Amino acid sequence: MQKFRIILPLFGALLLAAACNKKADFNFYYYEPEDYALISQYLNLPEIPDDYRSELPIHIANLGLAARPVEQDKAILGRVLFYDKSLSKDGTVSCASCHKQELAFSDDKKVSTGVFNRAGDRNSIALGSVLNFSAYYGTDLFGPSGIPFFWDNRANTATAQNIASMTNPKEMDMTHSDIVNAVQSKPYYAPLFKMAFGSENVTSDRVSEAIAEFVNAIGSYKSKFDKEATKTIGYNVYGNAAYNSFSGFTAQENLGKTIYLNNCASCHSETQSRPQKLKANNGLDVASADKGVGSITGSPSDDGMFKVPLLRNIALTAPYMHDGRFATLEEVVEHYNSGIQAHPNLSPELQPNGSPLRLNLSESDKQALVAFLKTLTDEEMITDARFSNPFK
Ligand code: HEC
Ligand code: HEC
Repeated sequence: MQKFRIILPLFGALLLAAACNKKADFNFYYYEPEDYALISQYLNLPEIPDDYRSELPIHIANLGLAARPVEQDKAILGRVLFYDKSLSKDGTVSCASCHKQELAFSDDKKVSTGVFNRAGDRNSIALGSVLNFSAYYGTDLFGPSGIPFFWDNRANTATAQNIASMTNPKEMDMTHSDIVNAVQSKPYYAPLFKMAFGSENVTSDRVSEAIAEFVNAIGSYKSKFDKEATKTIGYNVYGNAAYNSFSGFTAQENLGKTIYLNNCASCHSETQSRPQKLKANNGLDVASADKGVGSITGSPSDDGMFKVPLLRNIALTAPYMHDGRFATLEEVVEHYNSGIQAHPNLSPELQPNGSPLRLNLSESDKQALVAFLKTLTDEEMITDARFSNPFK
């Protein structure tokens, strides 16, 4: 029987379409049979490789955002690396330890725990809070409009981000040569590196590049909110879907959406597409124990400023804020309702009259806002096999 080897990323959609047509006629395979047999002793990877390309829904695409093409072979390798605990000093921690798929790639601790049970400094950022990293993250690709990584925006690229995590003593605590040795010691990587890079040669740059490709492939845009927004755009091409009331929402969810648009969207985005600001102070404290962006730039005007996260999957990612201080969404809403502190860098929209804003929401308004935030959960992403743990 004739066999083909599909090299997906090189030829893109055209080849894939052709390949799909031919699937009925030929026995396609991606891996050499002996490689697949070897890999399969350790990993559950499908014989026909996963497709990591993504198409953003119309209400997002209309804003001019697009997911970049993913290099499939690198993403496949990156997925294995993301879940591999041997990439840590004591063999107990992988990226996925602090970025759990079922929690939208966050964890449920106030601050994350790394190797040797070392406590980290901050709350894990939910990778599933982001629409799609490849659409606007990284100053290497998007210049000053690119969103940098981490709560304090200290990493400019996805590769710099993951090298920082792997070498952080409170996270995985590896050196570059530790990383190379760990990967070389596992038999399943040789074929995966061959597929991704054309040779089995392992370098920390290649490891980092593959992980970045997997992280770039993660995307979340199939929530109830997205489905309603796309539907609404369908009959209102020129309008902003976020502002219409959604037919599939309850009255409470629509009320919550209005409250959100009036009070939260100027930072967190109307459409959960891209944050409106790179950084802000949202009045957590009078003085910041953690200076956030200020600890990186050294500028007092950045003290207490932190990344403005998107709120996708927010119902899954408690506890909240850079230090995990709030256990529930109700506590978060109460913060914005009555708890905003007068910080020197407090964002102007949170002190419209020169003193910290008090929203004075009624109990039912607060519940409506929480109900709206719950429509941002994407059940498909958290169960998508392409992003799941491949280890047997
Ligand atoms: C010990 C827990 C831990 C491990 C292990 C870990 N992370 Fe994280 N991750 C965090 C925390 C905590 C933050 C926020 C840290 C900060 O901002 O200072 C974070 C932030 C990030 C971000 C930034 C997201 C954004 O929107 O800015 C990305 C991406 C990320 N991690 C991916 C990874 C990858 C890939 C790995 C594996 C190489 C990894 N993490 C390993 C805890 C962890
Ligand atoms: C001035 C900009 C701004 C406005 C307006 C704003 N936020 Fe935030 N929000 C932030 C920033 C900055 C953070 C991160 C702060 C930190 O952790 O130090 C944040 C964090 C959050 C988080 C926690 C995210 C996480 O992953 O832990 C939630 C939930 C949230 N905001 C909801 C809201 C809601 C609901 C409103 C409206 C009532 C609102 N925000 C209005 C800037 C803003």
